[in-house]
Formats: sequence, structure tokens, C-alpha cells
Amino acid sequence: MDYKEILSSIIENISPAVADLVPYQPGKPIEELKREYGIDEVIKLASNENPFGPSPMAIKAAVEAMSTNIHRYPDGGAYYLKKAIASLWTVSMDNIVLGNGSNEVIQFLIHTFSANGGEVISSDPAFLVYRKMAQIFGAKNVFVPLKDNRHNLAEIARNTNKNTRIIFLDNPHNPTGTIIKSWEFDEFLASLPRHVIVCLDEAYGEFVRDYDDNVWGSDYIKKDPRVVFLRTFSKAYGLSGLRVGYGVMDEAIAERCNKVRQPFNVNSIAQIAAFYALKDKKHLEYTVKMTHKGADFLYDRLLRIGFSPMRTNTNFILTHTGLDARSIYENMLRKGIIIRAMNSYGFPNSVRISIGTEEENRKCIDVLTDCQCGCI
Ligand SMILES: Cc1ncc(COP(=O)(O)O)c(C=O)c1O
Repeated sequence: MDYKEILSSIIENISPAVADLVPYQPGKPIEELKREYGIDEVIKLASNENPFGPSPMAIKAAVEAMSTNIHRYPDGGAYYLKKAIASLWTVSMDNIVLGNGSNEVIQFLIHTFSANGGEVISSDPAFLVYRKMAQIFGAKNVFVPLKDNRHNLAEIARNTNKNTRIIFLDNPHNPTGTIIKSWEFDEFLASLPRHVIVCLDEAYGEFVRDYDDNVWGSDYIKKDPRVVFLRTFSKAYGLSGLRVGYGVMDEAIAERCNKVRQPFNVNSIAQIAAFYALKDKKHLEYTVKMTHKGADFLYDRLLRIGFSPMRTNTNFILTHTGLDARSIYENMLRKGIIIRAMNSYGFPNSVRISIGTEEENRKCIDVLTDCQCGCI
């Protein structure tokens, strides 16, 4: 038989849920961008990373672990990291599920509770991984449009039914940077059926400025088993490249999620780096302080160039530009600055800019000012 015929008889058996998936399009690698546009310097303000990098303590521990331990499998139970996380939230280690990024915990929740037809509700737009994971596991996606750039909790509650399994709420919300207030959340929770998991994704929790108004998942652990919250080391802790995140939830829910977890899902370097990142409170404070300063700077400058930025509780800013977001993105790219056009999130005239270092923010505004002139 011919090679192509054999291949097509394999491919035709693809699982129906996978056949319709659109593969994730990663951004252009920085090196490729430099070559293509003949530029020496690239500033990446597209993925909400920490521009200051991780704690020096985390780097030191990771380098040491690298030179002594990588011929061994990691600790599958991640004892020390889990213990540190448990102490941070005053919960038991059994309340924690560790993931290869918090993305993986989203996957565990969907795999465990809504595979094959369970309904998953998320806002439209919201972090795209919720819908993608639901699709992969054959769950039914239900989308509820934002209202005034915020989660429409009343409408989400109206969309629940006996098949609803999980509601994902990115709080703060990506890409608008808005928050859910605690009183709104209490009303919402009271209106939900008892079988529904509510996942508060707090990937940007460390950056929240409206601290007292905001709802915090940690306030509900041990009080309402429906509430689960997610945290990540990819944002404020600067460890995106190592992929560590976690969920905090009732022990019985965590136990079920751990059933679908691969035994060594978080590698040993990531475990030790995350452990030391948690210890270095000073670095976290510095990151948050500089991010807030950068957010104020960008907000002010974006207003001055005639855009309409949104107040943010995160390390990124969504700004309406009045222009085609795609052409702003392309023009910025040519000048070596990567931002995110929000067309695919349903904001054709908005861009999302991650907050960088002071110098990166300044350069971004300078180039954006030029591009804006070029786009009109
Ligand atoms: C709302 C939200 N949740 C989760 C993540 C993913 O985090 P991780 O790197 O831990 O998988 C992101 C990353 O952009 C995000 O925006």
C-alpha cells in the first residue's frame, strides 16, 4: 500500500472533538522577528509576563538544582512546594492541585468534571484556554457576553442548568483587567445550583489594586465547596518559562482532579524555583510596585495620544484606539515592539499592552505615537 493511503486511513480516525480544533498560534519568536525586520532590539509586551524576571533566589536555586538533580524524576507529590503554598493560604496540602502552569489545572477540572457533554460556562471574551480545553474534552461550551466590559454574573447564573459543571471566571478578567466585587459574587453564588463548580482564575491576583472590593477565592475555601481558585507562577513571580500553577479547592475535589494528573507533571527545577519565588516577598513587592507605576504611566500616556485605555487590576492594559488594531500591531511589530491586537477577542479597535520596565513602556509609547500617525 502507498504511504499516503496508509496515512489517510490513520487520519480519518481522528476524534471528532479534535478534528475541529484550531491549533494555537504562538507569537513570532523574538529571534525570527529580528532577522525578518532587520532590527536589533525586540520588546515583548504581548503575553503579560514579568519584565523584571523571577526572584534571584529562585534563579539561584534552579541553577543549583539543574547541576545536581536532573537525572532523577521530580517529587511527584511536590512536598515542599505544596507545603509552602498550603501555608500561604492556611489550607491543607490536600487542598492543592499543582499543574504544569495553571492551564493544566483548568484541563484537570474540565477532564474530571465535564468531559463528554457537561457544560462549561465562560464569558465572551475571556481567557481562551477555557473554551479550548472544553472543546478538547468534548464538553459543551456556553458563552455569556461581557456587560460593560465585566463578567455578566446574572446572565451566567441564568445560563446554568442541570448539565452545567463548571463556570470559569478570570478575575481579574483577561483582557479587560476588570474585577468582580465580593458582594456581587456572594449574590451570584447564592443564585447558583449546588452542583456547579465556580473557578475563580486569579492569574493576576497579585496585581489587584481594588483589593478590598475584589472577591478572593481564598475566602470561600472550607465555606463553600463549589468555589475553586487558581494561581500561577507565570505572572507576578516571573516563571512563565518553567510552567507552574495551582488550584486550591476542597480536598475531595482535589483528590478527583489528581486522578487525571500525570505523576511528574511539575518538573524538579520548576518546583524548587517556585518554592524560592514564594519566599522572596521583596521581589514580589518590587514587581507589583513597578507594575502599578508602569500602569499609571501607560494609562496617562495612552490618554494623551487620544486612545481610551481601561483602568486595570492586572499587569496589562486594554486600550481602545479608534483605529484598526491589526494595523497598529503590524506597524509596532516592524519597529520591534510586540503587543496584542484584540480582534480575535471581539475588540477590533483595541490592543492589549503588557506592562514592561520603565524603559520598555516609554519606548512603547514613543513607537505607538508614531504608528498611530501612520495608521490614520
Ligand atoms: C486569565 C489567565 N489564566 C491563566 C493563564 C495561564 O497561566 P499559566 O502560565 O499558569 O498556565 C493566563 C495566561 O495568560 C491568563 O491570562
